[in-house]
Amino acid sequence: MRIGILTGGGDCPGLNAVIRAVVLTARLRHGDDTIGFLDGWKGVLEPATVPLDEARVWDILPLGGTILGTSRTNPFAVDGGGEKIRANLGELGVDAVVAVGGEDTLGVAHRLGEFGVQVVGVPKTIDNDLSATDVTFGFDTAVQTATEAIDRLRTTAESHHRVIVCEVMGRHAGWIATHAGIAGGAAEILVPEVPFDVAAVCDRLRRRHAGGRFSSIVVVSEGALPSDGATLASARQAASSSVTDQFGHARLGGIGGWLADEIERRTGYEARVTTLGHIQRGGTPTAFDRVLATRFGVEAVTAVHERDFGRMVALRGTAIVRVPISEAVVQAKTVDEGLYRDVAGVFLG
Ligand code: F6P
Repeated sequence: MRIGILTGGGDCPGLNAVIRAVVLTARLRHGDDTIGFLDGWKGVLEPATVPLDEARVWDILPLGGTILGTSRTNPFAVDGGGEKIRANLGELGVDAVVAVGGEDTLGVAHRLGEFGVQVVGVPKTIDNDLSATDVTFGFDTAVQTATEAIDRLRTTAESHHRVIVCEVMGRHAGWIATHAGIAGGAAEILVPEVPFDVAAVCDRLRRRHAGGRFSSIVVVSEGALPSDGATLASARQAASSSVTDQFGHARLGGIGGWLADEIERRTGYEARVTTLGHIQRGGTPTAFDRVLATRFGVEAVTAVHERDFGRMVALRGTAIVRVPISEAVVQAKTVDEGLYRDVAGVFLG
């Protein structure tokens, strides 16, 4: 059998661990041939491939990023993209594709099923917003990175008696903000799922300072916005650019700076912002992410050999299972309300 693998969308710690697991499982357990497509679906469309053998992947387990490169190429944004992919795979003799990605990459994988392309999906995103899996790999590393940053911000915030707003990634869902906010003991955690009231945030900060705590960490997801119509327009303008990718997503970033300015203006407390940005996506994966990515990769190859196509490997509890890709991409998995309100809520303010 000849298996092709690609990594698409934003990169994420653990991608190389999946590539390694797929290549070694396919070659050593099944005697398959394996190739890599460069830069996500772009590499299948062009096509642009690299041979992947044992020697190429032995040492990549702890490496951040992806040795295959990635892109946000949407083959369905190109005329006849689906047919082109089917034809290219036929010419390359590729029997099955393991597509490692988030909602966009896996959305393409799902649609390609209609073209007879045999795909197994592996869920990836630091945002953890893919449905049908409890966790995506990369999330744990991003939370660890954000938590370490918050710990560092706390000491300087305390020294200067400041409010520091820490903007983290999370386009549709506030998983990173919630987990890192709980782990870092944030005073405020603001997420895309719950529009925030700036006046209420400032009131809570005032109460906190009046109670003798003269510094605060406010964690905000890049996709969070205020509820109040008067501020919404300026916040939206500050937080996203008009540049969109091939899947129609605007480039986000800026809500943290906007919020820090509002807090300083309304409360008189000195405020600063730190935007963690791509620091959360880079670097070596945590042990948890390495293990999860490895388990996903092994299972993806098993699914290929059982001809269980159109499925995504997923974590449910402690078990690796397979689910229809359609279930994963139908809607974003938003933050668990119980975690946000009942757990995080106890410690805020
Ligand atoms: O991969 C998801 C994500 O990290 C989002 O949280 C963020 O909005 C986006 O990627 C940034 O993408 P890019 O690196 O293409 O600007």
